[in-house]
Amino acid sequence: MAANEVQVVHIGDLLSRAQGKVLELGPGGGDQMYHYKPEQIEKLYAAEPNAFLHKTLVEAAEKKSLGGKIVVLDAGAEPGSLLPALKKAELIPSTSSTLPEEGLFDTIVAVKSLCSAPQSQLTAAVAIFQALLRPGGEFLFFEHVDNSTDSITMAYAWLVDWLWPVFMGGCRLDGKLDKVVLGMGGWDERQISTVGDFKGHEVFRYIKGVCRKA
Ligand SMILES: C[S@@+](CC[C@H](N)C(=O)[O-])C[C@H]1O[C@@H](n2cnc3c(N)ncnc32)[C@H](O)[C@@H]1O
Repeated sequence: MAANEVQVVHIGDLLSRAQGKVLELGPGGGDQMYHYKPEQIEKLYAAEPNAFLHKTLVEAAEKKSLGGKIVVLDAGAEPGSLLPALKKAELIPSTSSTLPEEGLFDTIVAVKSLCSAPQSQLTAAVAIFQALLRPGGEFLFFEHVDNSTDSITMAYAWLVDWLWPVFMGGCRLDGKLDKVVLGMGGWDERQISTVGDFKGHEVFRYIKGVCRKA
């Protein structure tokens, strides 16, 4: 998905940190993939629930020198979808009912995708992301979340959100990723900031986050 000039800078900042075994949630057709530094990436697990985008995703990886490194998972970010896909990819033993104690990934990335994951499962999903990270691993995200500063805009967004997801592939305007991440322990460091010149009366508030697992 196209990103504007301000977004490109922040997404680039985040994705250039990705290293080792990386899990990206909702990469779409791989439009942000050019931000990765291929020499830092050992393997890129791309969990994309829209199977129509898988071919484009693989083609994008080939163009960006990540062709031999990408593994596409037919999955969303919510635990009930992601965990079976990780088992299918044999990253987790199929008979296991627990997650690997030492974690699996060095980096987990989400760019404008968690707004489309079921918000009722967001807390559980982020807890799983944390569990899937190795100690010192990073959860990197660029997402839009709810506007919690202006009550008129909040009411407007609440109204629009009845129809918005129907036309926007399940995207919700009331994302609470920042609150979820700030409300949980287990991070060594959490840097979360609103990006751009957010005016306080806008429906879209974009945040950028770097969270390092303890
Ligand atoms: C706005 S697009 C962004 C794509 C890509 N991250 C980018 O920035 O170019 C939203 C993406 O989220 C994916 N998506 C939809 N439901 C999802 C879910 N439950 N979990 C993770 N991603 C999801 C969509 O298939 C789509 O690829």
